[in-house]
Amino acid sequence: MKYYITTPIFYPNSSPHIGTAYTTVAADALARYHRLIGDQVYFLTGTDENAQKIVRTAEAHQMDPKVYVDGVVERFKELWSALDISNDDFIRTTEQRHQIVVQKIFTKLFEKGDIYKSEYSGWYCTPCETFWMENKLIDQKCPNADCGRDVELLKEESYFFRLSKYQEALHQYIEDHPEFIQPVSRRNEMLRFIEGGLEDLCVSRTTFQWGIKVPFDPKHVVYVWLDALINYISALGYPDGENYQKFWPADVHIMGKDIVRFHAVIWPIILMALDIPLPKVIYGHGWYLTKDGGKISKSRGNVQDSFELIQRYGSDAIRYFLLREMQVGTDGTYSEDNVVERLNSDLANDFGNFISRSLAMVVKFREGIIPKPGQDGDLERELKALSQEVKKSVEESLNRCDPASALEHIWRFVARCNKYVDETAPWALAKQQDQQGRLDTVLYTFVESIRILAVLTAPFMPGLPSKVCRLLGYDEGLIHWNEADQWGILKHGTHVQKGEPLFPRIDISQYATVGEIETVDQEHAPKETIEPIQTPEFEPIKDEISIDEFAKLDLRVGKVLSAEKVEKTDKLLKLEIEVAGEVRTVVSGIAKHYVPEDLINQYVVLVANLKPTKLRGITSQGMILAASHGEILEVLTVKKDLPGGARVK
Ligand code: MSP
Repeated sequence: MKYYITTPIFYPNSSPHIGTAYTTVAADALARYHRLIGDQVYFLTGTDENAQKIVRTAEAHQMDPKVYVDGVVERFKELWSALDISNDDFIRTTEQRHQIVVQKIFTKLFEKGDIYKSEYSGWYCTPCETFWMENKLIDQKCPNADCGRDVELLKEESYFFRLSKYQEALHQYIEDHPEFIQPVSRRNEMLRFIEGGLEDLCVSRTTFQWGIKVPFDPKHVVYVWLDALINYISALGYPDGENYQKFWPADVHIMGKDIVRFHAVIWPIILMALDIPLPKVIYGHGWYLTKDGGKISKSRGNVQDSFELIQRYGSDAIRYFLLREMQVGTDGTYSEDNVVERLNSDLANDFGNFISRSLAMVVKFREGIIPKPGQDGDLERELKALSQEVKKSVEESLNRCDPASALEHIWRFVARCNKYVDETAPWALAKQQDQQGRLDTVLYTFVESIRILAVLTAPFMPGLPSKVCRLLGYDEGLIHWNEADQWGILKHGTHVQKGEPLFPRIDISQYATVGEIETVDQEHAPKETIEPIQTPEFEPIKDEISIDEFAKLDLRVGKVLSAEKVEKTDKLLKLEIEVAGEVRTVVSGIAKHYVPEDLINQYVVLVANLKPTKLRGITSQGMILAASHGEILEVLTVKKDLPGGARVK
C-alpha cells in the first residue's frame, strides 16, 4: 500500500512556533505509523514563499525577499529536525520544479476557458492573503475571526478562476464522499459555505512582482493560494513524474481549521478542472491557544523559543504533549506548565515508572536475566486481551487522524501494566520458594509489556524505541507493528538493564523565564543540558503513636488573607491566616514553590496549637501542612466551603 501525507506549506515570514509545529508533528506520527505497518510512505512539507506578506516583512527588515526567506526556511528545517520529523521531501515554492508546474497549470486552465481576464475591484487582506468583497467586511476590517486587521482596496486588471462553474459538482462530491472532509464539523461548515454560493476567484496580481509570473502575460503574478496548493502535486513531479504516478491522490492533507476552506473548495476545483482525482481526506485540526484563549503570536509577545523547549524537555516529551493535548474538533491549550504537568504525570509517573520499576525487579530478582515464563494465569490473559484491543483502537484512531485518542488508548494499557505490577506483587512472590515459577511468568510479562509499549509509542515518540530496546537488550530493528499484540517475542536468557529514568520528573520552578521568551529570528539559545532530577528514597515511617497522642494535635482550616516574601531570604513566606476568629502570622519555608499571590484566599491546614517560634525576627504562630517528596512540594488545601477554624481530624 502507498500512503501520501502532506502538511500545509508554511509562510516563512517568521520563524515557526510551537503552535505551528502541531500539524507537522501530527503528520509525522501518521507517516511513521504507516511506515511501521509496511506502507510505502511519501511525507511532504515545505514553505509558501510567494506571498505578498513575505515582501512586506522583507522590506521591513530592509532585505531582499529571497535572502530573507532563505534564512527563515533554515529555521523551519532545523525545527523539523529537532522534532525528529521524518519528511521525505521539503518543497519551496520559489524552486523551479514548482514554478514550472504552476505556469503549466495556469496556461492549461486559461486555454480551457476556466481562467479568464477581467478586472478585480474589492478588498484584500495581506496577513490572510485573501480577497474580500465589500459586503463581507466587518467594520471595514478583515472578517476572518482570527484576523480582524485592516484590508486594502484593490482595483486592478486580473485573471479569474471559474469557481462558480464547479459549485454543484463540488457540493455533490462532498455529499457523496462523507470521509472527504474531516472531522464532520468542518465538513458541515464547508457544505454550508458552498451552498452560500461560490464567486469566481481572482487569481493574479499586478501591483507587485514577487511571485510566479503568468507565462503568457508576465505583468501578472499568480495569486499565492493558487500557486501554493499546487505544491501537493508539483513536489511529486506532476504530470509525468514517477512519484506522481505512484503517490497521487494524497491520502491525507492535514491542516489547521483556518485554511480548510482553501483546501476544500479551491483545491478540489483546480483538480476537477484538470481532470485529476481528488485527495482522499482533508483533515482540519484545531489550534493551540494560550491559557487565556489567545493566539500564540509574535505580535502578542507570547512566542516561546521552540528550540529551547525541546532542549529543556526533549523532542519526545514535546511531541507527546502536542499530540495528546489537542482533542478532535476543538482547540488545545498550550502553556509550559501544561507541558510539565503532562510530562510528570503521563510520562514520568505512569509510563517511565512502570518501565523502571519492572526492570528494577528483573535486575533484583533474576540478576537482570529475562526468565523463561511458565503458564499464564487470569491476569496475564487479561493483559494480553487488552493489548489486542488497544492495538486495534490505536489503528482506528490513527485512521481517523486522531493521535490524541490513540495515545489515550495506549495509556489504558500503561495503567493496566502498573496495576498488574501491584496485583502480582513480585516482591512478595520473591520471598516464597514455591512461587518462583510464578515470579518468572510475571517478570517475563513485564518485559514483554515494555516491548509492546515501545512498539505502540514508536510513531509518536520516535526517540523511545532505541532507548527502550537498549534496556531490553533487544535490536531496535525488531520493532514491528504487527507484534504490538503478540506475546513471547523476547528471548529468555537475554540481559536487561535498569538504566536511567526515561522521563525524569521536572520541577518547573527551576525555570525563571517560563512563557516570556521572545525568539523569532534569534539565534538558538545555547545548548543546556538538564540534569535529571533524582527522586529520593522515601523516609522511613516513624514510630507508632497512640490515638491520644495524635489527638493532642489541633489541626484547623485557615484562610490565607495575605502572603509576602520575607526579606533577604529566598525560602520564607510570611502569611496572615484567619483561623477561628483570629488572625495568625505564620512563616513558612515554601517560597521556592509558590508565588505569594497564589496562596491568597486559599484554605490551608494549620497546626494551630504549635508553640510559637521566631523566624527571622517574626513570631510564627503555627505551621501549615504541605506534602513533599524530593523537589516537589504542595501545600495542602481544602476545596469545600469550610470556614477558617474548621477542625481537621
Ligand atoms: N501558507 C498557508 C498554507 C498553504 S498550504 C497550500 C498558511 N501558512 S501558515 O504558516 O500561516 O500556517 C500553516 C499552518 O499552521 C496552518 O495549518 C495553520 O492552521 C497552522 N497553525 C498556525 N498557528 C497555529 C496554532 N497556534 N496551532 C495549530 N496550528 C496553527 O496558512
